[in-house]
Amino acid sequence: MKILITGGAGFIGSNLAKKLMDRGDQVVMIDNFNDYYDPQLKKDRIKKYLKGYKFKLYKGDIRDIKLLERIFKTEKLDKVMSLAALAGVRNSLLDPIGYEDVNIKGTLNLLEMSRKYKIKNFVYASSSSVYGNNKKQPFSESDSVDTPISPYAATKKATELLAHVYSHIYGLNTTGLRYFTVYGPWGRPDMALFLFADGITKGTPINVFNRGKMSRNFTYVDDIVSGTITVIDANLKCEVMNIGGDREETLMRYIEVLEDNLGKKAKKKMLPMQPGDVPSTVADIRKLRKLGWKPTTRIEEGIKNFVEWYKEYYKVA
Ligand SMILES: NC(=O)c1ccc[n+]([C@@H]2O[C@H](COP(=O)([O-])OP(=O)(O)OC[C@H]3O[C@@H](n4cnc5c(N)ncnc54)[C@H](O)[C@@H]3O)[C@@H](O)[C@H]2O)c1
Repeated sequence: MKILITGGAGFIGSNLAKKLMDRGDQVVMIDNFNDYYDPQLKKDRIKKYLKGYKFKLYKGDIRDIKLLERIFKTEKLDKVMSLAALAGVRNSLLDPIGYEDVNIKGTLNLLEMSRKYKIKNFVYASSSSVYGNNKKQPFSESDSVDTPISPYAATKKATELLAHVYSHIYGLNTTGLRYFTVYGPWGRPDMALFLFADGITKGTPINVFNRGKMSRNFTYVDDIVSGTITVIDANLKCEVMNIGGDREETLMRYIEVLEDNLGKKAKKKMLPMQPGDVPSTVADIRKLRKLGWKPTTRIEEGIKNFVEWYKEYYKVA
């Protein structure tokens, strides 16, 4: 299989690329190495984490339809995994127009090319944030997602709608994966685990929102990758699916495990809820389980792996 991974230098994209190449798939990537967080980390994922692997990387933008046309025409792709996006929930309140441009227009460009070049399966990253303040737990794919509470969530919901159109009108196979808080080695510096690790090692206070009364189905990146590959292989007609860990963990427990692994206590700054954020996201994962997937990594193991990577990469004693 030859697959295009958009956002291939990203956290999930680089981990996915590695697993696909390990099993013999051919990988083509596009990434614009934007500076939403330190682009050096993206370069190092390519240069260090994927060292020794053979793949084609286009430095470019998914909003550039001419470039996409060239890639689809020359690469003769079988499948597309659409991960490139502006991904921070809180930041989307500062740049809603930028989020609309990349996440909606960029994804629409890819759908259009996938239709034109008869791609066998188009899988794309949606997000648990589409559930907004859904009161019913766990969140199920059959729940209404008509009330997003951040521009980011609205863009993700919009991509689900566009994918539905392309499946319905053109018969393009599409599956949207609603990722639930992903963590692990080579993770994103704007996400909580990273910010906490940074604060704890430097001895600076960490911001604990909603005074710690939060819970998540934290999902280890290897579980995300195996679930994503399951869906890439499945070639489903038109689906959206939750993909998350199978345990609800409190934010305070998440911090405690991190403290244990770093051997140092956090200075916690207890703060109110942030606009756009939600207190709890718990996934109903029965739909993806039916395809044979199950998450296997507990936070005790996942955070240990993260800390090992973090200490080595940032040369923390
Ligand atoms: N990490 C999570 O917890 C999480 C949760 C829900 C959904 N998601 C979604 O999964 C996907 C991947 O997330 P991630 O955590 O790996 O984020 P990431 O920011 O590490 O990866 C995204 C990559 O896309 C690239 N990119 C951004 N805009 C681009 C553009 N216009 N053209 C080309 N490349 C562009 C970035 O440079 C980056 O390398 C995103 O769509 C995100 O919204 C992630």
